Amino acid sequence: MTDTDTANGHPPRLTRLAFHGPLSETRANNLVQRLTRTNPTTVLDIGCGWGELMLRVLAEAPDATGVGIDVKAEDLARGRRNAEARGLAQRVEFIEESAIGTARGPADLVLCVGASQALSTARTPDHTTEALLELRRLVTDGGRVLLGEGFWQRTPTSAELSGMWPEAAVTDHYDLATLLDLVVAAGFRPEWTETANLDEWEEFESAYQADKETWLAQNPGHPLAAETREDLDRHRAQWMSYRGVLGLAYLTLVPAV
Ligand SMILES: C[S@@+](CC[C@H](N)C(=O)[O-])C[C@H]1O[C@@H](n2cnc3c(N)ncnc32)[C@H](O)[C@@H]1O
Repeated sequence: MTDTDTANGHPPRLTRLAFHGPLSETRANNLVQRLTRTNPTTVLDIGCGWGELMLRVLAEAPDATGVGIDVKAEDLARGRRNAEARGLAQRVEFIEESAIGTARGPADLVLCVGASQALSTARTPDHTTEALLELRRLVTDGGRVLLGEGFWQRTPTSAELSGMWPEAAVTDHYDLATLLDLVVAAGFRPEWTETANLDEWEEFESAYQADKETWLAQNPGHPLAAETREDLDRHRAQWMSYRGVLGLAYLTLVPAV
């Protein structure tokens, strides 16, 4: 879906989200403060989407330049527009390419939030380790990584798993303790460990659907209405299956040397 599609009467997409994940303004502000303590001059955002957190880091670190990579042109275009509007366009590039095996970096600060799938196509158990080793390769010694990664808050039941994403399996994620052990084994120490709370998840999931819900209410007879209602119902059922079970950890990582 592009801006042109929206102008042509398609439902809008993700305009109610500041970040493409469960992240409050308070947590984002704290992250930006923490991640700029080491005065990064280069920032690499893996699976950046529209790169909101990277733009906020660059605003706080005036000597830094940033590169965001993602495969979704529409989100990259939103990032470029936001950079332009905030006077950051000279210091940031939004590049359309896959991050698998990327030749970008190393950078002083590497962001990978909700996007470890951009670093490894393996399924667990190899996926997380492969992504962590890539992050270690991409960060400079003395730099920082922010990894936003899913984990199980408790073991999901079979009924919950069958309601989540297609082919969801208990092996798709680890618990937080195991995730942190893998982080350490891959050559990092955790400077800060925090997890999205239920308010952040509810804000994210509601904002994720709100555009389409309001569009549907206003366009019940539109040729795309039935398909849109089906998408919304499917996603809501998935969210009700992983609500309170799937967590998102924000791990500020120091590379061990
Ligand atoms: C949940 S979004 C997170 C976006 C952003 N990091 C944020 O927190 O707002 C995951 C992003 O990963 C991107 N992605 C998935 N596979 C990728 C790949 N192979 N290379 C680069 N980006 C990828 C998707 O297009 C999507 O924008």
